[in-house]
Amino acid sequence: MQKVRAAIKGIHGYVPDYILTNAELEKMVDTTDEWIISRTGIKERRILKGEGKGTSDMGAEAVKGLLSKTNTNPLDIELIIVATTTPDMQFPATANIIGDKCGLKNAFGYDINAACSGFIYSLTTAARMIESGALKKVIVVGGDKMSSIIDYSDRQTCVIFGDGAGAVLLEADDSGVGIIDAVLQSDGSGRVHLHQKAGGSAMPATAETVEKKLHYVYQEGQAVFKFAVTKMADAAEEIMKRNNLHSDDVAWLVPHQANKRIIDATARRMGVDDSKVMINIDRYGNTTNGTIPLCLWEWEKKLHKGDNIVLAAFGGGFTWGAVYLKWAYDSK
Ligand code: UT7
Repeated sequence: MQKVRAAIKGIHGYVPDYILTNAELEKMVDTTDEWIISRTGIKERRILKGEGKGTSDMGAEAVKGLLSKTNTNPLDIELIIVATTTPDMQFPATANIIGDKCGLKNAFGYDINAACSGFIYSLTTAARMIESGALKKVIVVGGDKMSSIIDYSDRQTCVIFGDGAGAVLLEADDSGVGIIDAVLQSDGSGRVHLHQKAGGSAMPATAETVEKKLHYVYQEGQAVFKFAVTKMADAAEEIMKRNNLHSDDVAWLVPHQANKRIIDATARRMGVDDSKVMINIDRYGNTTNGTIPLCLWEWEKKLHKGDNIVLAAFGGGFTWGAVYLKWAYDSK
């Protein structure tokens, strides 16, 4: 028997049907398919349509699929954490809404807002609770309806983001697999480069804030890029060193999908071959908290018990980090 760890025992995802292509964006703003692909690697992204639909609708689809494929009784879930930057409402937490939609009647729930690093922050938080012995079955959701805070007349941001959500089931496991280590960091001085100006307590919504488009993502792309490209690779390198992992030991790198160039730089620094890097930015763009679970979901059938996997992310805050885990099962 080894130390009790939190192991991912199932993964599921959801992306909306509507596909927003680069060709459609060319009609909306002054951009080109060539610019978007060469600068970001994105060809299309999904958009959640429908009045009243929010992040919880995508998260609930992912959780329902997860419960069904893992034959899990919703009443056995003790905690649900939702990593999101676009909660359905300021309050209550989207975790509570998803819990209600999925019948998680015995679970407590809350959201974590760490922008694009939210999923790895949440996974680590949940893992620590399981390691402590306090909990045995936890669901972590990462998802965002980024289209709800994007200005579709701003070419610098509207080409990047998309909507989607993924969910993992974490269970206590003492066989040596599971979440092994995490490097998590943040630097709030980076907030000037990436934020949403209005709608919070510092600047509540008014007719003027709406008119001035202050409820959309404000991003100084180049400044964010410079930090992201360094910090995401730093975190991935540090977690490898700390755990004596060499590039050959790493089965998969699962990077946050913000920009193909940031992903490539992280893989290069780790010495990991392109064939071991999960990339779906071309089809989904940057779904913020959804990127990492959506990758794991799409690659699930290729994963094997004992695979060494490194997750890495960088996002608004600034927040960044990396998680090292050993995959817990062979997919049927
Ligand atoms: O999710 C976590 C946090 N976010 C990130 O990690 C994102 C990090 N940043 C980036 O990925 C990149 O900075 C962007 C993709 C946002 C922008 O790419 P870039 O290569 O840094 O472009 P830039 O902002 O330096 O702009 C270069 C040029 C500018 O024109 P001039 O001034 O050189 O004439 C922009 O106006 O490209 C122009 N431009 C565009 N042109 C066509 C900016 N957006 C577009 C566009 N289509 N959509």
